[in-house]
Amino acid sequence: MDQDTLKKLVGQRAVEHIEPLLGSDSIVGVGTGSTANCFIDSLAEIRDRFDGAVASSEATAARLKGHGIPVYDLNNVAELRVYVDGADESNLQLQLIKGGGGALTREKIVASVAREFVCIVDESKLVDVLGAFPLPVEVIPMARSAVARKLVGLGGQPFYREGFTTDNGNVILDVHDLHILDPCRLEDEINAITGVVTQGLFAKRPADLLLVGRANGAVDEIRAP
Ligand code: 5RP
Repeated sequence: MDQDTLKKLVGQRAVEHIEPLLGSDSIVGVGTGSTANCFIDSLAEIRDRFDGAVASSEATAARLKGHGIPVYDLNNVAELRVYVDGADESNLQLQLIKGGGGALTREKIVASVAREFVCIVDESKLVDVLGAFPLPVEVIPMARSAVARKLVGLGGQPFYREGFTTDNGNVILDVHDLHILDPCRLEDEINAITGVVTQGLFAKRPADLLLVGRANGAVDEIRAP
């Protein structure tokens, strides 16, 4: 099976997983990216089974609305039963690199309020050690160079994502050459740099369940250890 088919498969499987958890007043947190889009398209098929969604990006909000799914402001929502999103990399501890699509900050916020975080990936995203995918860091624009120097001090090679502005009006540095052996520590170190809004390591709040689409059409379910 090709990668696009696997994305549809895990999107559909995520809907099957969450459907029994939802009630008519449930709100679903929804991620961003091509895999999350597959999830949204499958979620639309059960849109009478839940109340609405909170979106992690403007693009996701538009796609949800296009399917007739009500989109709520997180400030008006007390609880998210579940958050479903893709990832750029996952290790077997379900620690992730996210933010390839630049939505990392809102993704991290929505994930932080969800009772369960279900991550959906095809098997190309599974790694032993995080860091082959460049780590996205969202930065306040005036701090771009200052933050980049600090990231070099942490052993990375930051590259400015030219021509890209996040939904929050900030810029992204993609940090190459990181071999992330202690993801929680690096998450703390980068968060402590003044000017960093957030970064794409989801290590301190990893996924709870990883659905991995395999080339043979199977979907593996991996739970957080
Ligand atoms: C967006 C993300 C995405 O989840 C991540 O980039 C994976 O995207 P895709 O499903 O298109 O491969 O973190 O900010």
